[in-house]
Amino acid sequence: MTPTAPALPERTRILLDCDPGHDDAMAIVYAARRLDLVGITTVFGNTPLANTTRNALAVCELIGLDVPVAAGMAAPLVGAPASAAHIHGSTGLDGAVLPEPRRAPLAQHAVPFLIEQARAAPGELTLVAVGPLTNVAVALRTEPRLAGWLREIVLMGGSTDVGNITPQAEFNIHCDPEAASVVFAGGAPVRMVGLNVTRQAGIAQAHVDRLAAAGGRVGRAFAGLLGFYLARTRAVYRRDTAAMHDPCALLALTDPGLLRWQDTPVHVELASPALRGMTACDLRGLSDEARGLPGLAAPIAQVAVGIDGAAAVDRVIAELLACDR
Ligand code: BDR
Ligand code: CA
Repeated sequence: MTPTAPALPERTRILLDCDPGHDDAMAIVYAARRLDLVGITTVFGNTPLANTTRNALAVCELIGLDVPVAAGMAAPLVGAPASAAHIHGSTGLDGAVLPEPRRAPLAQHAVPFLIEQARAAPGELTLVAVGPLTNVAVALRTEPRLAGWLREIVLMGGSTDVGNITPQAEFNIHCDPEAASVVFAGGAPVRMVGLNVTRQAGIAQAHVDRLAAAGGRVGRAFAGLLGFYLARTRAVYRRDTAAMHDPCALLALTDPGLLRWQDTPVHVELASPALRGMTACDLRGLSDEARGLPGLAAPIAQVAVGIDGAAAVDRVIAELLACDR
């Protein structure tokens, strides 16, 4: 595909680790158009790994995108895989029939693929992770030098306030809290784009109608997908808009002015059954001296604390529509 978006001052080189998923599908299209997307790795999450991999390839097929797709981990470091069929349907991308993928995933597993991509250009690759963090954690454990090779990890996951799987825990982190803990402590710079901001980027019925009315192949497909996603969000969360989670992690790179950040220690809760998977963010703005106190020694991440949600959604919808021009 030839992206038609205006050239960025710098097209950030990224690898997208994802579990499509409706918002992941939007992220693939947005990344293809606005960033230098060197590959896609898939992980279990919204639906089993076979589905997330097929869905990633189907989205590539839909927009004519030819980047390597490597399948990764099918289960978390501890326990059994979850799923989000209640939101994304039994295929993970219910709501539209996407073209049958003509390409197969790479024979290579996502973990060595990711490591190789980072090693090939130290300091240049940004890893954008928008699913459970299992692939990333396994890669960091397999090759600890990876942390130094990556420019940064930008992840969609966690929350500074409410969760969506439990009152406190967000889905991606809750799927594999041990992996999340490895990633936050892994040594690479981490930026966390959590539910506290992605819930403010709401896809409304008007967006779905706009995609349908535009009449193109990609617009119609996304109208079907996002109509389904919105209906499930209404049914489960009683909200009138569906959160455009995953593309917000990419907007942190393409449109940094849309988000506000705070450096904060992030503790991933592993032990408490009630709070497991919670990202406890210390937003008190304590001094370094206070942070050194026992119990306040969690790894520091840059955490998104504000977003222009309406502008975020408009920019991503505009790229979906532009695929049909
Ligand atoms: C995250 O969970 C998944 O369902 C979405 O794709 C997103 O990555 C939001 O909690
Ligand atoms: Ca996702």
